[in-house]
Amino acid sequence: MAISRRLFLTVSASTIGVGGYSLWATPLVIRRVHVVKSPSCGCCSAWISHLRAAGFTVDALHDEEALRQLKDEYDVPEALRSCHTATVAGYVLEGHVPASDVERLLAERPEGTGLAVAGMPLGSPGMEMGGRREPFDVVLFGPQGSTLFSRHR
Ligand code: CU
Ligand code: CU
Repeated sequence: MAISRRLFLTVSASTIGVGGYSLWATPLVIRRVHVVKSPSCGCCSAWISHLRAAGFTVDALHDEEALRQLKDEYDVPEALRSCHTATVAGYVLEGHVPASDVERLLAERPEGTGLAVAGMPLGSPGMEMGGRREPFDVVLFGPQGSTLFSRHR
């Protein structure tokens, strides 16, 4: 009963529009992530598992050509490109962006195209390799340029 009531409220909030979003941390409808990845990439699948564990609904398209097109379509800066590209709630996620940053993106809804983690830093979500960690930055990119969104040390 509690669950169905919450589902009802979430759906109503999303139909009211953007103004309703602030009332609900993140409605179910915008917790849907579409991932485009290369067919051979294992770390992409590990990143998808990370998002699912954080409560996101994720579907994936395995298509190298579509992946290139998507990066071009959203003008993902060459220097920020990584193994997979995803979309969520009108934003782009490039590479191994932590779920906590996606949560913050959806809550704050900043001006910009999306978030990127350049390359494939060891220790980022989906790139775990026996405790090895490389520091990495999450960058907010878009027509306005690129700015630091968060640091992971
Ligand atoms: Cu990767
Ligand atoms: Cu990937």
